[in-house]
Amino acid sequence: MIIVIIGAQWGDEGKGKVVDLLADRFDVVARYQGGHNAGHSVYVGDRAFVLRLLPSGIIHADKTCVLGNGMVIDPKAFFEEVDQMTSQGIAITPERLKVSSRAHLIMPYHRALDHTSEERLGNEKIGTTLRGIGPAYEDKAGRRGIRVADALVPELLRLRIERNLEEANRIIVLYGRPPLRADEIFDEISLLVERLRPFVAETSHFLAESKKQNKKILLEGAQATLLDVDHGTYPYVTSSNPTAGGAAVGAGIPPHHITGVLGIVRTYATRVGEGPFPTEMTGAEEETANLIRQRGNEYGSVTKRPRRCGWFDAVATRYAAELNGFDSVALTKLDVLDALAEIKVCTGYEIDGRRIDTFPAVSHDLERIKPVYETLPGWQEDTVGITNPDDLPEKARAYVDFLSHSIGVEIGLISTGPERDQTIILRDSVMEGWFKS
Ligand code: GDP
Ligand code: IMO
Ligand code: MG
Repeated sequence: MIIVIIGAQWGDEGKGKVVDLLADRFDVVARYQGGHNAGHSVYVGDRAFVLRLLPSGIIHADKTCVLGNGMVIDPKAFFEEVDQMTSQGIAITPERLKVSSRAHLIMPYHRALDHTSEERLGNEKIGTTLRGIGPAYEDKAGRRGIRVADALVPELLRLRIERNLEEANRIIVLYGRPPLRADEIFDEISLLVERLRPFVAETSHFLAESKKQNKKILLEGAQATLLDVDHGTYPYVTSSNPTAGGAAVGAGIPPHHITGVLGIVRTYATRVGEGPFPTEMTGAEEETANLIRQRGNEYGSVTKRPRRCGWFDAVATRYAAELNGFDSVALTKLDVLDALAEIKVCTGYEIDGRRIDTFPAVSHDLERIKPVYETLPGWQEDTVGITNPDDLPEKARAYVDFLSHSIGVEIGLISTGPERDQTIILRDSVMEGWFKS
């Protein structure tokens, strides 16, 4: 069985919490795209973890985790995270953590280029995490990237660094930054990749073998549908494919081996960084945005940037459901809306007085869109930590049903707090089918 977990909005939907919650039912948890631009927070009792590169399943001692070929890996960030987890009592060994030989490395010049590229864009900057993600994927597509396997051959590593740095330094210097030195980069990276060597594996083969042995595999998406480089709000996107198709490519598995897709949907929307956000709460609604930001702790887990907050966008989420083929949805952060007297849901878009029900391709159109809202009554009761669906206030249940209906997908679980057990598991025929065997 292979299940993919995918963020339906602009990220930070609570993928980490849901992966951690479901990990018990799986044997292997794998990431398939992105890098340490992700920040997946998991709370277990009084312990807090933020996973950036490592799959959230790593917290469970008996799970094997995989960093797939579709990822970009900063070796320094990798070991910082491994060391951080070790200091939090999580044992990480090559037996339970496998890094694809085909994943690409993020090099120090990628970080520098992320900065210069944002500087060049000025007012039109993307608002990236400045982790070097975009430039590393550019090198991959440009066929000059350095893969983990290449880096393990010292002569190849040195050659590639020298060749790539020549070009990178021209841009770096153009932006008034000090040029980087090839020998310094080589010394730093070659030490790190030596430490990485025992973790390196043919992860596609490992996943194929695991499947043959009837192991259950969870593919953990990072970022989200509307940040997908093909399907998101381009150019305000990340440089990988978080969507379901990307899971097959980035984990290196046959697409028809995927059993099902679980969408992670928040009861409202947020966005970090720049780019169109039709339902953003601005002007008179800023107070509501502040309330949600405070109740939902909406600050970047990686960059600590305050997240932009907005109402639930059914047009965008329906688009995500269709693109990824969500079989079921985990709805997160219901409790955050407890304080609101009224809750708006965007059920359609209007552009120049015309109603459109599909998500437009051009960012410029999205900036001009007027969301059409329906207003639902808030429940103004405490739902924090509810586990029994019968304990939900009637209006909260009505809100959940409205969202489910508006995106056309059954909701399999509702999250009512950051903790593992603050969850309502609903009777959902789809999810029950997955876990039956
Ligand atoms: P991810 O990137 O999708 O894994 O999401 P993040 O971890 O970046 O952001 C989600 C935040 O919301 C984290 O701090 C979670 O602990 C928290 N969270 C997840 N589910 C819930 C929930 O149902 N209620 C509340 N209040 N917080 C939640
Ligand atoms: P998780 O997995 C929210 C955003 C950045 C920026 C854009 C491009 O925690 O949901 P990048 O550094 O990837 O080139 O930045 O994508 N972004 C995220 N936003 N959650 C994330 O990850 C994100 N990863 C990248 O803010 O707008
Ligand atoms: Mg996050």
